[in-house]
Formats: sequence, C-alpha cells, structure tokens
Amino acid sequence: MKIAIIGAGNMGGAIACGLAATGHFSEGEIVCSNPSMPKLERLKQQYDIISVTTNNQEAAKGADIVVLAVKPWLAEGVVNEIKETFDSPEKMLISVVAEKSFSTLREWLADAECQPAIFRVIPNTAISVGESMTFVAANGATEEQTELIVKIFEYMGEAMLVSEKILEVGMVLASCGIAFALRYVRAAAEGGVELGVPAQQATRIVAATLKGAAELLLRNDSHPEQEIDKVTTAGGITIKGLNEMEHAGFTSAVIRGLKASAGK
Ligand SMILES: NC(=O)c1ccc[n+]([C@@H]2O[C@H](COP(=O)([O-])OP(=O)(O)OC[C@H]3O[C@@H](n4cnc5c(N)ncnc54)[C@H](OP(=O)(O)O)[C@@H]3O)[C@@H](O)[C@H]2O)c1
Repeated sequence: MKIAIIGAGNMGGAIACGLAATGHFSEGEIVCSNPSMPKLERLKQQYDIISVTTNNQEAAKGADIVVLAVKPWLAEGVVNEIKETFDSPEKMLISVVAEKSFSTLREWLADAECQPAIFRVIPNTAISVGESMTFVAANGATEEQTELIVKIFEYMGEAMLVSEKILEVGMVLASCGIAFALRYVRAAAEGGVELGVPAQQATRIVAATLKGAAELLLRNDSHPEQEIDKVTTAGGITIKGLNEMEHAGFTSAVIRGLKASAGK
C-alpha cells in the first residue's frame, strides 16, 4: 500500500514518522512531499524507509491514500495540483486540514476523473509520540475503507470514528486540549515551586501524575469522580485543595475556555 503525505510540517511529518515507526510499512510505501528539502531530509534521516520528493504530483501518483497536511489557505491549490492523480475509484483522500468541510473538499474535487472516499482526520500533536487522540469522519467511503483508515491511526494512539459535527467539537477537546492540559501542568508545577520543589522536578512530577490519572480512567473505564473519591478522605487535605480550586472557579473556567475555543 502506498501512502502519500503532502506537506512535511508538524502534522505531516509526525504522521510519516508515526507510520514508519509502526513497522507495518516497507520501503516505498510512505512518500512525503514538501516544497523545500530540509524537512524532508530530516524525515529521511529519522526513518530511511520514507521516500521524499518536492513534487506533489509525483508523490500522489499511484498512491492508494493521499494525506493532505498543508495549511488551510494552501489546501485548495494543492488539491488542484494533485486532483488529476485521482484516477481510480479505490483511491482515498485523508484531509487533516482543520476548517475545510467535506462539501468544500468535494467541490474542489468535482472535476476529478474519479471521486475518492474522503476522510477528515484530526490528530493532536501527541501523534509524534504515538499517543494521539485522533478523530476520523468519513464521506463516500465503504465500511472496509473506513475500518482501514481507523486502523492506520490506531497505530499512533487512539482513533475514534465520529460525525463531521463531533469532529469539529472534538478538535477543541483533543487538539486544543493538549494546551489546556499542559497549562494545568504549568500551574501545578508553579504551585510546587512555591512549596519548595525545584521547577524541573515539579514539572516531571505533575506530568507523570497526569499520565497516571489518565491511565486510571482509561483502564478502569471509570468516572473521574469515582477516582477522585478514592483520594479524598473526609476532612483530608485533597478535598480542602479541591474545594479551594472550585471556589476560584476551576470547573467553570475550563467549560468557559472550551466554549470560547469552539466559538460558542
Ligand atoms: N498542528 C496541529 O496540532 C494540528 C492538529 C490537527 C490538524 N492540523 C492541520 O494540519 C495542517 C498542517 O498543519 P501543521 O501544523 O503541520 O503546519 P506546518 O507545520 O506549517 O506544515 C505544513 C507543511 O506544508 C508545507 N507546504 C507548504 N506549501 C506546500 C505545497 N504547495 N505543497 C506541499 N507542501 C507544502 C510546508 O512547507 P514549508 O514550511 O517548507 O513551506 C510545511 O512543511 C493544517 O491544515 C492544520 O489545520 C494541525
């Protein structure tokens, strides 16, 4: 199977590396294109099996899956450039471009020889460490094609099949969510420093704690409050801290932040 990734930036590069690291692909199966060479050279240095080119058409030609990973304002031009390579009904397009809907992508591809199955895929930056929360929405795809795309992204973390509407909200929870979670880490680390823990140690402690808390939820499939109950002794120090955070508007601040990011 040939996968062409158009755009070797943060997202395209991370997907290329993520795919290469799975060990499920061999030489020539992952091709990455980018206008300038330095990013491509870095990719090649990391994973020798990734083929690189500065020619988008050359990358997309003969590919089973084309991944569009350029900035939103460049996406239409790139689709125009490669659309003549959509010459087989089996070929699939994955767009990781935020904000560009299925109807826009279909419009751009209207005069392609064959209409591909289109997937909108929104990973987050943790894809570079194989821990992405990735949303997949499908349009004009068979069940088999959809299963394949979900499986590919499951190699690089958790992948969830959702509607286009949920994909857009999910992006706030998962892509912006990386920043929200890390702002908590920074805040907690700063508190730790004030309490006397060296900064680097405090950050590591909070990050590892967050990872452990997430694992508890995911492995136990539990509600956050169930896990919170296990550490809040009546009259104890955890509930004192939690209540103080709530007096300062913790839950409300998080919900308001999410709604602001979602434009609501
Ligand atoms: N970053 C995230 O967390 C995230 C999450 C979900 C979705 N996305 C989406 O992913 C897409 C890419 O974002 P990014 O953060 O990866 O941006 P990025 O780091 O700027 O990467 C974009 C890449 O596209 C290359 N490029 C520019 N013009 C091109 C062309 N005509 N043909 C082929 N490649 C071209 C750029 O090369 P040069 O730099 O050499 O010009 C750059 O390497 C965006 O549409 C964004 O909405 C990002």
